[in-house]
Amino acid sequence: MTHDFQWTDENKVALDAVIEANRGERGVLITVLQKAQEILGYLPREAMEYVADKLRIAQSEVFGVATFYAQFSFKPRGRHTFLSCQGTACHVRGGDKILKEVLRDLKIEAGDTTEDRRFTVESVYCIGCCSLAPAVIVDDEVHAKLTPKKTKDLLNRYE
Ligand code: FES
Repeated sequence: MTHDFQWTDENKVALDAVIEANRGERGVLITVLQKAQEILGYLPREAMEYVADKLRIAQSEVFGVATFYAQFSFKPRGRHTFLSCQGTACHVRGGDKILKEVLRDLKIEAGDTTEDRRFTVESVYCIGCCSLAPAVIVDDEVHAKLTPKKTKDLLNRYE
């Protein structure tokens, strides 16, 4: 699935303000990239090119710095993050069915974000609550002993 990035005037004005406020400061590039991700929700290539241009830094340097830090995401993220545990305890208690149900319901693959940006779904390995298997984490909240039916209801609770 491709997500075409579009600037809005508001985004550009906000990012320009950050660039001007930090120009010449130490660590300006990281600060600007962090703020760009906050404003845009992720770091599209277009934003990195724009920052490089505005700060008069080589694009390769901006890409290099951004890819070095795990905090930057180059794909759009959903408003909610759904982590489906596929560790052993969860897997044997039906964690695989939970994940399948979620992906089928949202019509995406693991690691992807829904077109409407409602969810990003990721498969993870042990979230430290094996006695509650199968478990998932939605945003910061653990949901335990799920069934495919309960999972459907759970998804519906998030806008
Ligand atoms: S295997 Fe899922 S919480 Fe440990």
